[in-house]
Amino acid sequence: MKNFILDVDTGVDDAFALLFAARHPEINLLGVTCVDGNTNLKQVIINTLKVLDAAEAGDIPVSAGATRPLIDEPRYAEHVHGADGLGDLGFPESKRTLDPRPAVELIRDLVEGSSEPVTLIPLAPLTNIALFLRAFPESAKKLERIVLMGGSASIGNATATAEFNIWHDPEAAAIVFQSGIPITMYGLDVFNDLTMNRTYSKRLMDENHAPSTFAGRLVDAMLDRLEYEITLGDYGAVATALKPELSTQVTMKAMVDTTFGPNRGATICDRRPEAFQELDPAHLDAPRIEVCTAIDVDAMRELWLQTISRR
Ligand code: BDR
Ligand code: CA
Repeated sequence: MKNFILDVDTGVDDAFALLFAARHPEINLLGVTCVDGNTNLKQVIINTLKVLDAAEAGDIPVSAGATRPLIDEPRYAEHVHGADGLGDLGFPESKRTLDPRPAVELIRDLVEGSSEPVTLIPLAPLTNIALFLRAFPESAKKLERIVLMGGSASIGNATATAEFNIWHDPEAAAIVFQSGIPITMYGLDVFNDLTMNRTYSKRLMDENHAPSTFAGRLVDAMLDRLEYEITLGDYGAVATALKPELSTQVTMKAMVDTTFGPNRGATICDRRPEAFQELDPAHLDAPRIEVCTAIDVDAMRELWLQTISRR
């Protein structure tokens, strides 16, 4: 079993990730923390609880985190995920209740309470994670790894060079990247490869199985809303944490741009030969992280489909 904590801003693709994490038999989903990102924190919590219902998840603690980035004002992505952040499908309200602990305290308690290594999987702006690292550094050192969806060693999406989760809170991302905790970055270099189309949503609908129907409706809603192909997005980071062999990872020095220019929120990943890097004092102290540069699309997609449809 793998012990995971997910940090989410649910979000349709966060929903794809949560469904998978809650339903995979080899994942022990210790808890879920929420942060503002795709939409405001209140709506993120509503969506997260609804998704756990749809996943037929057990009693997994869910807690509230940051309502805004450390410095910037919040900038949401409702143009992508719908006004309610979950495709505007009117899913029923959940009767689940929030854990009373703030997100940083829940993460601390779950890490300290686990006898096995814990992987933290942020799928959202890194505000909660930065606050956790600063509030409880000794607990943070016990994390096995952070596998995050965010960043890019190539192009951006929120801006030409910055990926949304990093761009939403660059200072938080810089704290996380510089933490010294082993980091795997599942970023835009692979994020858009894991595509879905109506063949797969039909396969889910034909299952006649509530979690599969929920997932199929979400896929169709996104295909209806957007003019481009949709992806399983954040789910890929969870798949990478569970089965690293499904992706190619390259060690790179990486820094987050926190300047207030056109590259704010970009992750600068050094792909130059070592000899060039050694000549560059700015990059000498940059942390080394594992960057996903390719994924086995068919295997990852099939893993998701089979896990969601599992009875
Ligand atoms: C990231 O931004 C959000 O819209 C998605 O949920 C994903 O975490 C992609 O840039
Ligand atoms: Ca997300």
